[in-house]
This record gives sequence, structure tokens and C-alpha cells, in this order.
Amino acid sequence: MGKPMFLTQATMIISLLLSMYTSSCSSVGSGRQDRSCIASERAALLSIKEKLSDPGEQLSSWQGEECCSWKGIRCSNRTGHVVELDLRGDRCYHFIIDCLGGSEFTSTPSSLQHSNLTALEILDISDNKFGSKISPNWFWDVTNLKHLDISWSHFHGPLFPDDMRNMTALEEIHLAGNNLRGENPSNLKNLCNMKVIDIAYLEITKDISELREWLPKCSWIKLRQLDLSSNNFYGNLPDWLKLLTNLTYIDFQDNKLTGYTPIWLGTLTKLVVLQLSSNYLDGAIYEDHFKGLANLKVLGLAYNSLVMTVSSDWIPPFRLAIADLRSSRLGPRIPAWLRSQVGIQMLAMSNASITDSVPDWFWNLVSGATFLDLSKNQLTGMLPERMELMEAHLIDLSNNRLFGPVQKFPRKAIYIDFSSNSLSEKLPTDFATEVLYVLALQNNSISGTIPTSMCKMRYIRKLDLSNNMLTGEVPSCAQQADLNDFNEMVSLKLNDNNLSGVFPSFLQMCPKIVFVDLAYNQFSGILPAWLQKMAPFLALLRLRSNMFSGQIPIQYTKFQRLQYLDIAYNYLSGEIPTSIADLSAMNSPGDESSFQDMNITFAPTYGALDDLIFYTESTSVLTKGQQLDYSKQIIYMVNLDLSCNRLTGTIPVDISALVALKNVNLSWNNLSGGIPDNIGAIKELESLDLSHNRLSGEIPSSISTMIFLSHINLSYNNLSGRIPTGNQLQTLEDPASIYIGNINLCGPPLANTCPDNRTRMPIYPEERQGEHQMPSHLSVIIGFILGLWMVFCVMLLSRRWRHAYFVFIDGHCYRILETMVCVFHHK
Ligand SMILES: *[C@@H]1O[C@H](CO)[C@@H](O)[C@H](O)[C@H]1NC(C)=O
Ligand SMILES: *[C@@H]1O[C@H](CO)[C@@H](O)[C@H](O)[C@H]1NC(C)=O
Ligand SMILES: *[C@@H]1O[C@H](CO)[C@@H](O)[C@H](O)[C@H]1NC(C)=O
Ligand SMILES: *[C@@H]1O[C@H](CO)[C@@H](O)[C@H](O)[C@H]1NC(C)=O
Ligand SMILES: *[C@@H]1O[C@H](CO)[C@@H](O)[C@H](O)[C@H]1NC(C)=O
Ligand SMILES: *[C@@H]1O[C@H](CO)[C@@H](O)[C@H](O)[C@H]1NC(C)=O
Ligand SMILES: *[C@@H]1O[C@H](CO)[C@@H](O)[C@H](O)[C@H]1NC(C)=O
Ligand SMILES: *[C@@H]1O[C@H](CO)[C@@H](O)[C@H](O)[C@H]1NC(C)=O
Ligand SMILES: *[C@@H]1O[C@H](CO)[C@@H](O)[C@H](O)[C@H]1NC(C)=O
Ligand SMILES: *[C@@H]1O[C@H](CO)[C@@H](O)[C@H](O)[C@H]1NC(C)=O
Ligand SMILES: *[C@@H]1O[C@H](CO)[C@@H](O)[C@H](O)[C@H]1NC(C)=O
Ligand SMILES: *[C@@H]1O[C@H](CO)[C@@H](O)[C@H](O)[C@H]1NC(C)=O
Repeated sequence: MGKPMFLTQATMIISLLLSMYTSSCSSVGSGRQDRSCIASERAALLSIKEKLSDPGEQLSSWQGEECCSWKGIRCSNRTGHVVELDLRGDRCYHFIIDCLGGSEFTSTPSSLQHSNLTALEILDISDNKFGSKISPNWFWDVTNLKHLDISWSHFHGPLFPDDMRNMTALEEIHLAGNNLRGENPSNLKNLCNMKVIDIAYLEITKDISELREWLPKCSWIKLRQLDLSSNNFYGNLPDWLKLLTNLTYIDFQDNKLTGYTPIWLGTLTKLVVLQLSSNYLDGAIYEDHFKGLANLKVLGLAYNSLVMTVSSDWIPPFRLAIADLRSSRLGPRIPAWLRSQVGIQMLAMSNASITDSVPDWFWNLVSGATFLDLSKNQLTGMLPERMELMEAHLIDLSNNRLFGPVQKFPRKAIYIDFSSNSLSEKLPTDFATEVLYVLALQNNSISGTIPTSMCKMRYIRKLDLSNNMLTGEVPSCAQQADLNDFNEMVSLKLNDNNLSGVFPSFLQMCPKIVFVDLAYNQFSGILPAWLQKMAPFLALLRLRSNMFSGQIPIQYTKFQRLQYLDIAYNYLSGEIPTSIADLSAMNSPGDESSFQDMNITFAPTYGALDDLIFYTESTSVLTKGQQLDYSKQIIYMVNLDLSCNRLTGTIPVDISALVALKNVNLSWNNLSGGIPDNIGAIKELESLDLSHNRLSGEIPSSISTMIFLSHINLSYNNLSGRIPTGNQLQTLEDPASIYIGNINLCGPPLANTCPDNRTRMPIYPEERQGEHQMPSHLSVIIGFILGLWMVFCVMLLSRRWRHAYFVFIDGHCYRILETMVCVFHHK
């Protein structure tokens, strides 16, 4: 039980998929014992170890006599020579900008030739951080090397260094993800045994037709794998590529290829993997494109402008395991040819213009799939009654028109998104499964109470049940025995339901929670003081429109991360704590870095699998009198909304220390005293509403220095004296209504003139020049419709992840697996 359970889950998904395609994955692991080790080679290995910093302690097994059984070493059982050396770094940190794992050399090892490792055929030093020139280097002089993998190891220099010229035995080379610029393809000319060329992630900007000069002609018919993914190759797919008749694996995704998809692809009869996603290909795809592709297992056509027009009785020659067809036009019906794709493992068809009711055969077809993404279509119908028996680990049916009751979740599902459908009725009593990691059911019509089986979801990270018709109390999960339950919870959204009872006490078990949204429910009782202690990383607390009463706990000013506090429309009384200035996240501008040590970051996502580690978070903010949807920009939204309560006392003077605030709404309370003089210090403020209180005294002139202020309301108070002028104040709409209901105010924009007309000059008139900042700032305000993305695996780069998504058949066979393991470890 516990975390290992997850590891098993993730391992299962992947091993299942990989078992089908591991052919080209070199299995390294420990070597064989039945061969003793050649002493000079052992010495050479030890000298390599000596020069290698080894933070991951990958080489801890490198001791004793039997070097053939050391980790990463394989000896020939014929000659006893070391033929394989695997120094791969820690794959878990693939996505990090700042690589935590991986080794570097403290000094240069002697060349392989010189150190007598001359029988070496396979060398894998990928995923390290060598940070050196690619050439000269210690590994270039063993000319019988067949397989060289130096990808993702921080090498720089020319793409095809001169040293390659003599590597004529080379069959497989992986150069991906290094900093290699400028190529001399003639250096490849004599590499007549090439079978695998991986030049992904190298920022190569070239017409793809130039590849003709790169790929050694003498190896064209031998070439099996060609990985050009994530570069900037442009132009049409050239016809001569059809001469590479031995290709089994084409990965051209994430480039800038244009034009039609050529028909000759259908003649590459050995193709197992065809990945063309994320290009600018357009036009139709029809039967002939697949004519000879009986071996095809992986098809990626996603994110192009492709329209699939095949007849409804077409039976493809292939039987796919993986189909990525996202954002292709497949509809309006669910493609009938899928019917023949029995045994499909991953099917991604989101945003595929499908308007259809989901037929039974389809549910049967995908019942064995581990990954299913049908989001953003117009699918109708009910969830299958026996959904529980589906094999899905990740299932995204969001943004469709599915109706009827929620069924019991697939037992192995770790990620479920059924949001924005029309699902109704009660949740099944035992709806939850232990392994769930993300559960998104928001924006449906689910009624009834939240079953106590919710407490089963011990590893849940994101739970979103918002915008349904749920009633009753949130289970307290008090019977939970294991203190680690809910340990991983980051986001809880129950807003816009009809839930009642006290503040959900199970949040005491969520030490890592960042987002809590309970707004628009019927919760009552006090705001618990324990929250600050039990949820120290809380960044957003939205309790708007409930029936909470009592005081704002003084402990809440000790939240280090809280930058969004909305407790409007409750029955809170007492004073605003004077220590409010301690809310440090409100006095320093919000940025991504403040989330980084919480291992959360923000990056674009590409569908459900991303969302397992990244996920979108959005919330709506009432500011400037409007309800606005903030998504990605939520990290910039620093908000204090205490409006519509029964707060008394004065506005704490120190509020002006919360300089990052963008929205302050204290309206509709019973606050008295003056507006703090230096309120103008809150320079970022865009909206200030103090209306409907009993504030008195003069309006501080510093208010005119808030250059971003686009909404202010001081109406219905007891303010007096002359209204300050200048800057933003002059530009606001409906200026008179800002001050209405304060009988003792005078001067423009009000009609009554002041008895004493000593001119009160606006201070800091030079601030006007700050107006040039407006455009960029406004773009922040305007760019609401973005997603807030969170990552649990330190900094993940989506480009990398997308690569891992569908390309795990090449030499990097563990990439996806270890990423998931990493996710579940939340390293
Ligand atoms: C080496 O060992 C492997 C596995 O033990 C075996 O399949 C292979 O035939 C052996 N090769 C030679 C040349 O003995
Ligand atoms: C390589 O082998 C030769 C001959 O066996 C030996 O003289 C030499 O010392 C070895 N070099 C290293 C670096 O071990
Ligand atoms: C390639 O080999 C030839 C002959 O062995 C040698 O003269 C030349 O220096 C080598 N070139 C490189 C770049 O190592
Ligand atoms: C093509 O690949 C197969 C293995 O897939 C191999 O047996 C055959 O020799 C290759 N053809 C050529 C011309 O290299
Ligand atoms: C959906 O697909 C269309 C092309 O068919 C594309 O223009 C659009 O951006 C896609 N939308 C999303 C959300 O991916
Ligand atoms: C909620 O779902 C409906 C369709 O059921 C959709 O039109 C609407 O955009 C969704 N709202 C949100 C906030 O996702
Ligand atoms: C919410 O629940 C209360 C009782 O707790 C009930 O009176 C009210 O009608 C419900 N509102 C909605 C919108 O379901
Ligand atoms: C302040 O809050 C009140 C009550 O929640 C709301 O009506 C008003 O529009 C808000 N003011 C602004 C400027 O958003
Ligand atoms: C506001 O506070 C004053 C003095 O504390 C009290 O007399 C008055 O009743 C309060 N008004 C409301 C609406 O709570
Ligand atoms: C300020 O609030 C008052 C009362 O709520 C309202 O009548 C007025 O329109 C508001 N003015 C502005 C500029 O929002
Ligand atoms: C202010 O007072 C001066 C005389 O003291 C008068 O000339 C001027 O018109 C007055 N201005 C306003 C706005 O009342
Ligand atoms: C973030 O990750 C680091 C490294 O794995 C870990 O030490 C740290 O505890 C994590 N922080 C949180 C808040 O989980």
C-alpha cells in the first residue's frame, strides 16, 4: 500500500505499451556473471568512474573484481570484452531546466582507444550534464562503435563533427537535445550502416528536402528510424523519402512542415510508427495513405489541419495500438474504421469535430485502452454502465454532451475528467477509487451528497466538483487511519454547489493544499484557525457567498503564500486584523518563482496526459464590478475581498504595505475611521471599493498616485473635504457616482464647490509619465482567458513532455515510465 501502489500503476500502463515495441530498446541492466572481467578494462572503467561526479550514485555497484556484472556494463560472452557501457543520467529529471540529476566529468577521461575499451559497441551517456564541446571527445575514437547515445547531455559544437567521419560501424546515433549548431553532412558520407538517426530537439531550421544531402545515401535502404521531431524543419515532405523503404519509424512531429500528406507514405510497408503531429500539414487523409501500412501500430496526425475522409466501410490494413488524432477533422460521426482497431491502447481524439452519440461498439472497443481522450467534441449518450470494468488509467471525456448518471470509475483510473457535460443524478456510493490522482467532475448537474467513499482517494491531488448541485456535508474522513492520506492534495474546488455544514475538516489532512474554493455554497460556522497551521502553502482561499460567521482568525495573517483571499458575502464580524501586513504574498508581486519551491509551475498543456502533472486551474474574480475569469493570470491576481460582511473597526493603516494588491474590496461592511493616508503606496491597485461603510475624514491625496487604478468606489460613507484630483482619477467613468452618498465631500466632479478653495495639488504629478507602462500592464489585465498550469515534478517543459507522450518506442524507452514514476514521487 501507499506510494508503491502508484508505482505499480504507472509501471503497468507503460510496461503494457512498451512490451509491444521494445525491439529497439537496448536492455542494459547488469551484465552476466559467467564471464570474468578483463583487468585492463576494469581499470579503464574505474578511471572513468573516478572522473565522473556521480550525484545519483548510479555507479555505486562499480566495485570488486567482476566488472562485467557492474550496473550498466555488458561484456561479450564470447570474448569477455566490455561491449556496452551505459552511463545514462537520471531520466527522472528529463524535464527540468535546471537538471538535478546527471553526472559531469570532473576531468576528461582518457579516450576509449587509449584506455583499451576498444571492443565497445554500445555507449550511452545520455541525460547527463557534461557541458563540454562535442568534439574532440573521449568517445570518438572507437571506430567499431555501433550505437552512440549522447542525447540530452549538454554538449555543444557542430551537429556532425569531423570525428564522425571514421565511425563507419555506426548504426545508431542519438544527438537529441544538445546545443549543436551548424552541420557538415559530408561527415556522414561514409556511415553506410546507419539504421537509426535521432536529431530531435536541436532547433534545426532547414527545408526538410535538404535532408537528402544529410542522410548517407549508402544507408538509405537500411535506415529504420528517423527522428526529426521538435525542430524547425519546413517545406513539403519530399518524394525521395519514399526511397527509404526500410523505415519502420518516422517521427517528424513538432516541426513546421506544410502541404499535403503524400500518398507514398502508404508504400512504406514496414512503418510501425508514423508521427506527424504538430505541423502545418493540411488537406485530406484517405485510404490510400495507409494502403500498405499493415504493420502500423502508432499513428500521430494531431495538431495539423488534416481532414480524414475515408469511406464508412473502410477497413484499414493496420491495427493500431496508439492513435493521436487530436484536433484533426474526423467527424461528424465517430469514425467507423475504428471498429477494426481492436486492442487499441491509447486513443486521443479530442477536438475532432465529432457530433455523435457514443455507440456500444465504441465503448467495447476502448474498454481495454489505458488512455482515452475524447474531450471537446459533441458526444452524446450515457456513460457505459460497466465503466468500472474499463482498463483506462487516464480518461478525458470533458466538454461533450454526455448525460445520465456517473458510473463507478474504472478501477485503475488515476486521471478522470468528465467536466462540462450534462451528467446528473447522485454519485454512486462507492464512486471513488484509491488510485485516483485527478478527478474533475465540475460543470455538470450532479446532485445528492458527496459519498464518504471520497475518503478512499488517499492520493488525490486535484479534486474539482464545482458547479454541480451537490448538497449536504463534506465527509470529514475522520476515520482515516493513515496520516498520509490526502497528503498530496493541491487543489480542492467545491464551489457553486449547495453544500452545507462546517468548514470541511478533512483539509486538516492536506498539508500541501494551494487552492481552496468553497464559494457559493451554504457552509456555516467559524473560519477555522487551524487552517493556517495545517495548510501553510495556501495561495488561494475563496469562501465567497456562504454563511460563515465569527471573526477573521488572526492566524490568517500568517499565511506566507496567501495572495487571494475572498471571504465576501458571509456573516463575518469583528475587526480586520491589524497584522494584515504580514500577508507576505500580498506585499511582493506574484510571480512563478514564488510557486517554484512548492514545485508548481506554469506551462501550456497538451491534453490529458499533461494534465496528470500539469493541470489547469482557473477561477473567477469579481473585480472592477465585473465577474472575470482569470486562469493563468491568477498568479498575478492579488486580491483581498472582504465585502458584504459585518466587519467593524478601522481599515488597518498597514494595509498600504500590501503593495502587490490589485483588487481591494471592503465594501458593505461597517468600517469606520479614515482611509489610510498612504493608501497610494499600493501602486498595483486596479480596483478599490470602500463603498457602504462609515468611513470618515478626508480622501487621502495619495489616492491620485495609483496609476493603474481603473475602478474606485467610495460612495455611501461619511467622507468629507475636497476630492483629490489628477492622474487616473480624472479618467474614471461615471465619476460622480464614486463619491455619491458622502454629503460632506466637495469639489469636482461633484456639483458642490468647496468653501475653502485652497488648491490641493495632486502630489507626484510626474507619475503621469508612468502611463507608458499601461499597455503591457493592460495586457495582463486583458489576457484573462489563459490557463493556470501546475506541475508537480519541479519544472516540466511541455515540449519535452509532448515528446515523451508518444515517442517512447525509440531508444528512450523509459522516458514516459520514469516521468510518471517521478510524478508519483513528486520529486
Ligand atoms: C551470449 O549469451 C546469450 C544469453 O545468455 C545467448 O543468447 C547468446 O547466444 C550467447 N552468445 C554467445 C556467442 O555465446
Ligand atoms: C592498454 O593495453 C596495453 C596492452 O595490453 C597496456 O600496455 C596499456 O597499459 C593499457 N592501457 C591502459 C590505459 O590501461
Ligand atoms: C580518420 O581515419 C584516417 C585514417 O585512419 C585518419 O587519417 C584520420 O585522421 C581520421 N579522421 C578523423 C577525423 O579522425
Ligand atoms: C531492413 O530491415 C530489416 C530488419 O527490419 C533487415 O533485416 C534488413 O536487412 C534491412 N534491409 C537492409 C537493406 O538493410
Ligand atoms: C480544435 O481544432 C481546430 C482545427 O480543427 C483548431 O483550429 C482549434 O484550435 C482546436 N482547438 C483546440 C482547443 O485545440
Ligand atoms: C459548462 O458546460 C457547458 C456545457 O454543458 C458549457 O457550455 C460551458 O462553457 C461550461 N462552462 C465552463 C465554465 O466550463
Ligand atoms: C440548497 O439547500 C437548501 C437546504 O439546505 C435548500 O433550501 C435550497 O433550496 C437548496 N438550493 C438549491 C439551489 O438547490
Ligand atoms: C465589491 O463587492 C461588492 C459585493 O461583493 C460588489 O457588489 C462590488 O461590485 C464589488 N466592487 C467592485 C469594484 O468589484
Ligand atoms: C455598525 O457599528 C455601529 C457601532 O459599532 C453600530 O451601532 C451599528 O449598529 C452597526 N451597523 C450595522 C449595520 O451593523
Ligand atoms: C459605486 O457604488 C454605488 C453604490 O453601490 C453605485 O451606485 C455606483 O454606481 C458605484 N459607482 C461606480 C463608479 O462603480
Ligand atoms: C477660489 O477662490 C478664489 C478667490 O479666493 C476665486 O477667485 C476662485 O474662483 C475660487 N475658485 C473656486 C473653484 O471656487
Ligand atoms: C519540492 O521538491 C523538492 C525536491 O524534490 C523537495 O525537497 C521539496 O520538499 C518539495 N517541496 C514541496 C513543498 O513539496
